[in-house]
Amino acid sequence: MSAPFDALRPRIETLVASGRPLGDILLETCSLLKAEIPHYDWVGFYLTDPGSPRELVLGPFDGAPTEHTRIPFGQGICGQAAERRETFVVQDVSKVDNYLSCSPTVRSEIVVPLMKDGKVLGELDIDSHAVAPFTPEDRKFLERVCEVLAPLF
Ligand code: SME
Repeated sequence: MSAPFDALRPRIETLVASGRPLGDILLETCSLLKAEIPHYDWVGFYLTDPGSPRELVLGPFDGAPTEHTRIPFGQGICGQAAERRETFVVQDVSKVDNYLSCSPTVRSEIVVPLMKDGKVLGELDIDSHAVAPFTPEDRKFLERVCEVLAPLF
């Protein structure tokens, strides 16, 4: 893995082992990712609503406020990632139809589901102002972050 990811991984593992409340750990994860990876411009978690398990609710995030605080499975990139239960990378949001825009400055997005016992607990959503910034390394690193976080739920 490349340098920023190599340096971040132990910091996230230490955070996960800290015993702090889950919400604090998720928020701090967002802040770390946004601060350290230049092409991450909005970093947040959507969590599956326990009372409505086919809906995502906005959780901790770092970045501009968004109007998309509830997203049904299947809608937008977030909802499609939850439905498919796999990472969804869109390198140019202007090229896709099923997309929920938060801001015209957002040009690309990666969404990684957070899975436990075969269920989608939520997902990690990252927006970028760059077109096509995400490499296989981003995907591998973010999937690892979600694997490390999942046991905390
Ligand atoms: N663009 C997302 C909506 C959430 S924001 O990126 C914060 C989507 O299409 O699902």
